[in-house]
Amino acid sequence: MSAGEKPKIGVFGAGWVGLVTGACFAELGHEVIVRDVLPERIAALESGRVPLHEPELPELLERNRERLTFTLEVDDAVSAPIMFVCVGTPPTYSGDADLSAVWTVVDQLPELEERAILVMKSTVPVGTGEKVRAALDARGLAHVGYVSNPEFLSEGSAVRDFMHPDRVVVGAFTEADGAAVTALYEPLETTVVQADVASAEMIKLAANAFLMTRISFINEIANVCEATGADVVKVAEGVGLDHRLGPHFLRAGIGWGGSCFPKDGVALKQLASNSGYHFQLLNAVIEVNELQKRRVVGKLAKHLGSLRGKTIALLGLAFKPNTNDMRDAPSLILAPRLLAEGAVVRGWDPVALEEAKQALRGVELSETLLEALTDADGAVIVTEWDELSGLLTSELRDAMRTPLIVDGRNLLDPGEARAAGFVYESIGRAAHDLDVLPETEEPETKLHQ
Ligand code: UDX
Repeated sequence: MSAGEKPKIGVFGAGWVGLVTGACFAELGHEVIVRDVLPERIAALESGRVPLHEPELPELLERNRERLTFTLEVDDAVSAPIMFVCVGTPPTYSGDADLSAVWTVVDQLPELEERAILVMKSTVPVGTGEKVRAALDARGLAHVGYVSNPEFLSEGSAVRDFMHPDRVVVGAFTEADGAAVTALYEPLETTVVQADVASAEMIKLAANAFLMTRISFINEIANVCEATGADVVKVAEGVGLDHRLGPHFLRAGIGWGGSCFPKDGVALKQLASNSGYHFQLLNAVIEVNELQKRRVVGKLAKHLGSLRGKTIALLGLAFKPNTNDMRDAPSLILAPRLLAEGAVVRGWDPVALEEAKQALRGVELSETLLEALTDADGAVIVTEWDELSGLLTSELRDAMRTPLIVDGRNLLDPGEARAAGFVYESIGRAAHDLDVLPETEEPETKLHQ
């Protein structure tokens, strides 16, 4: 590599983090080689198909085709002097992170002649860096550096998050390795937090846990609002304007899901308890989230009585909008809960129907909102897709057997919903969620009073 030339980058794992990381480094001018173990995934990428739904990613991959290579071979990926590990670290039954994919990458590294750096982007327990360092040293790979560089990419805006990060965290064992990784982010003009490896690992876990805490906090405030007559949306606005608190992650709803929060929350809880510490607050944060999803059932029953034989449409199945990711989506809890109550459950989602087929057994999947709502006794907004902002039409209202909406994301305006002839419930907006039939354009309903 000549002076001034950007180093080639290897990426292990062509999932969300790996593909976004690879595509963004290619956009920044690096030659990038992405390796995955799934032949169908590599074949798709080679033929220009993107195996996941992430805004801007297809365009980025297409624009940088010349600089991007996809491979199944470890030996191809290790031709790069800087190798990012972006493999999955799913939960095990014990709640600890499953690091087998991480260890496979480490164990498969060949005898590298040249100096290289392994950069950990996957979310791993604190202490993983120390262990990998020791394993590399034991294999005679002391010249392979190790750097922790956690990702803070939010699905649905991952490309933007990579290109405009709030900060980049670099935890290294040596100054030179830290500087080499820091240099990669120079074009992004962001704050780089340089730390020891353990602290870098903990920054990622703590940031996620804090975001989860904010959500569970506002959800509990929402529940108290329901009991006392306050409106959580107003409350969050008033609280969030305090510069010490800020407005983010104060949207009350049916709780978080996704590829990170559920598994990373439990992994941090177990990491603490494995070290003999009971992380009381985090336990409560997780439990609040579990209970929050189930409150939907009570809101439906409040109007419909027993749900046995009632048809309930779940609107939005992905864990959040702009993704087809169903990992730990609230719909995965709600569907079986409603089925257990004896309800007939339908599901609609603009992009995740294929994924839902595998994940939601016993649920009738609908291609259109009209199909999902026809003769339904109630609908639950599970994911705040843009498409659902247009839900308040007379066509959809009249198609429903009872025009009941439980808005699990506070997406719609209560006054507008009621004026459009729907019976409307949301989360923590007691001031608006009056248990009354709509005053205008009142349709015939069979609502349980
Ligand atoms: C998250 C972190 O934001 C990201 O930094 C980390 O790298 C991976 O995990 P992601 O899971 O993609 O990203 O989505 P995010 O937008 O953070 O939302 C997570 C969950 O919280 C979603 O289910 C969302 O609906 C929920 N949420 C978020 C709320 O219920 N209320 C809020 O105010 C914000």
